[in-house]
Amino acid sequence: MTADDAVDVRELRTRRSSYVVAMTTEGPVLVRWGATGGDDGTVDVALTKWETPADAAPLELAAAGTRQVRAAELLVQRPDGLDGARLRLVEGSVRCVEHDGGQELRATLREADTGDVEVDVHVRTSAAHDVVERWAEVRATGTATLHLVRAFGAGWNVPVGPGARVGALVGAWSRETTPVLVDLPAGQYSLGSRQGVTSHTSTPVLMLSRRTAADVRDPPGGTAGYGVSLAWSGSWRMAVDAVPFRDVVRVHGGADDETGTVVLEPGESHETPHSLGVWSDDGIDGVMRAWHEHQRTALLRTLGPEHRPVVYNSWYATGFDVRLEQQLALADVAAEVGAEVFVVDDGWFRGRTSDRAGLGDWTADPAAFPDGLAPLADAVLARGMRFGLWVEPECVNADSDLFRAHPEWVYRAGARPVTELRHQLVLDLGRPEVEQWAADTLRRLLTELPVSYLKWDMNRPVTDGGRPGDPRGREWAAQHARAYHRLLGVLRLEFPQVTVEACASGGGRVDAAVLAACDVVWLSDETGPRDRLAVQHGFLSAWTPAVMSSWVTDEPDRLDTAPTSLEFRFVTAMAGVLGIGSDLLAWDPPTRARARRLVDLYRSVRDLVHTGTVARHRTPADPVSAVQYTDASSGRALLLVWARPGAGGDGTRVPLVGLDPAARYEVRETGERLSGASAAVDGVVVPFALADDCDVLVVERQEVPDR
Ligand code: DGJ
Repeated sequence: MTADDAVDVRELRTRRSSYVVAMTTEGPVLVRWGATGGDDGTVDVALTKWETPADAAPLELAAAGTRQVRAAELLVQRPDGLDGARLRLVEGSVRCVEHDGGQELRATLREADTGDVEVDVHVRTSAAHDVVERWAEVRATGTATLHLVRAFGAGWNVPVGPGARVGALVGAWSRETTPVLVDLPAGQYSLGSRQGVTSHTSTPVLMLSRRTAADVRDPPGGTAGYGVSLAWSGSWRMAVDAVPFRDVVRVHGGADDETGTVVLEPGESHETPHSLGVWSDDGIDGVMRAWHEHQRTALLRTLGPEHRPVVYNSWYATGFDVRLEQQLALADVAAEVGAEVFVVDDGWFRGRTSDRAGLGDWTADPAAFPDGLAPLADAVLARGMRFGLWVEPECVNADSDLFRAHPEWVYRAGARPVTELRHQLVLDLGRPEVEQWAADTLRRLLTELPVSYLKWDMNRPVTDGGRPGDPRGREWAAQHARAYHRLLGVLRLEFPQVTVEACASGGGRVDAAVLAACDVVWLSDETGPRDRLAVQHGFLSAWTPAVMSSWVTDEPDRLDTAPTSLEFRFVTAMAGVLGIGSDLLAWDPPTRARARRLVDLYRSVRDLVHTGTVARHRTPADPVSAVQYTDASSGRALLLVWARPGAGGDGTRVPLVGLDPAARYEVRETGERLSGASAAVDGVVVPFALADDCDVLVVERQEVPDR
C-alpha cells in the first residue's frame, strides 16, 4: 500500500504548514507535513521485503494486528487470547469540517474480522498557529471485554529521517527542563513518567530535526524542525522509533502503557490523551516559537496581567511558621514593593506546623489565625493586593483528621504497608467520593474567603497506585489525571476570577493539558538565580514565558554559585511572570526602593514578555546570555541580558533578531540608533547600567526615519 493507492487525499492547513493525509484501506496515512505550497516534508514509503504493507505505511494510527512487526499505537487484548486488531477504514466515514480557518478530520476504522473494535482517528488544525492536534476514540463494539494495554492517540510520522536528532528536556527535582540532544541513527528513544504526575525527570515534549542539523540553534532559514508534545498530566510514555533507511521516524505517546490498562466493556469507549505536533521551517528554535504561539493563541485563556499578577509568596520567608502578625507585616512590605497578589503558602491550616501533620484539614489553624483567615485576607485587600492561598488537595498526612476519618481514601497496594513520602499519602482521586470531597473543599475555600489566586501543589509521586479488587483498578493513573483535570475545570468554570498556579514540588507537573487549565506554572523549586536561569532557559524551549512563574528569593545557588546582584535576581524573574518570595522584613528601605523600581520596570515591559516572540541568545553557561522578546507589529523589543562575573564589560554587543531589516530602531536606555539589519548582524551595545551582571534594554522602532 502506498499513498498512490489512495482514493481520497485531504490537506489540513495550519497557519503556515500543510498536513496532508491520504485514505487507504488500513486508514489515513501521512503524505506530507511541511510548508504550505511547498513540497518539503513529503513522505516516501517504499516497501521492502520482510514487512507487510501496513508495517511500512506511515499510518496515522496503527493497531498491533494491523501492523505485525513494527510498534503500534493500539494494543488490544481479549479474554480468549486473541490479541490485536486488523483495522480497516470504514467506507464513507471520513469527515473533514472547517472551523476557525482550520479543519477537523475524523476517520473511522473497524476491526475487519471480529468487528469488536472501532477507532475514530481525529486530526485538528487551526489557522492561528502551526500545531496539529490528534487523538483517538476507541470503542468496544462486540460482545467481548477489551483490554487496551496501550492506547496512544496518534502515530506521528516525522519526515526527518533516516534517524533523527532528538531534543528532550530532562532533569530532576530542582533541575527541571535540562536540554539534551540525542543522536538517534536507529532504534528507540523512549521517556516518560510512572509517577502518576508528569514528572520532573522528563517533559512530555520532543523536538526532532535531521541528524545533519548542527545543534539546537539552527540559523534562520535552516532545516525544518518538528515537535511532538503530549497533553497529559498523569503517568505517560513517549517513544521515537527510527528504522534504518526510512525517511520518517515515528513518534508516539500516551498514558503509560506499563502501569495502566484500560478496560472496555461492550458498548464502552475510551478517548486517548491528545498529542500535538508542530512543524517549523526554522529548525528547533522555530519549533520553540511555534509552541509558544500555540500556547498563546490556543491554550491560555488570557495573556494580560489579570492572570499573571506580580506575586508575593511567603514560603521562602516563613516555611511552615505562618502566623497572622507576621503575614500582616509581610503584606505591608509586599504592597510597598509593588506586589499585586499576596499568597499564603503551605502552613496556614489546622495542625500544619511541619510536613508531618495537617495535610487534608483545610481550615485555618486556630493557633495561628484565631479568627480564621478573613482578617488577613481583608488586610491584604485593603492594601490593594489580591489574596491567594496554597493548597495540595490530592494528598493527606496520616496525622490528619481527614485520614483518621477516611483511611480507605488513599492509594494502597492491598495489604502492603503504605509508602509515605514527605510524610504524606496520595488520595485516590479515582474514587468519586474523593473527587467530590476535593471539589467541595475547593468550593468552600473559594466562597468563604475572597481568594482570587490558588497555588495547587502536589508534593510526591504515586507509589502504591491501583485499587486491588476493583476491575478498573489498573486505570488509576488515568482516572487520577482526569479527575485532576475535572477539578481544574471546576475552578475555571465556577471561579473564573481565580488565577491558578500549577505546581508539583516545583516543575513536577508541566504539560500542555496543565497549561490549558491553569494560568501559570511554578517550574522549579530552584530559585538560586543562576541555577534558576539555567532551568528557565530549558523551559523556554517548549513553554511560553507567559506561564513561567518566577520569584526573586534570598536562596543561594547550589550548582552555579557565581555571585549575583539583586538586579540579576529580578531580571531573571522578569523573564517570565515575576514574583517575590524573599523575606521582605529583612530588606532595608533602600533595598525595598530598588525592588519597587525593578517591579515598576517589569510592569512597563511585561506585555512584551508575555506576548512577544522569544529568541534566546546563547545559554546561561556562556559569558553573556540574553532573551529577546519582540512584538514585530508595534516594532518594540525587549532584551534581558545576564553576564558571568567580569564578563559584562565595555563593548558587549548582543544581536537582535527578527526586527524589520529596513526600519530604524532606537535603544531607549542608551540612545543608540541602528537599522534592524545592523541590529541582527552587529548587535546592540549592552552598557550593564542596571548592574554589572545584568541589564534590560527596550528597543523601539522610530516612526520617522532619522537621516
Ligand atoms: C513545594 C512547592 O514547590 C513550594 O513552592 C512550596 O509550596 C512547598 N511545596 C510547600 O510545601
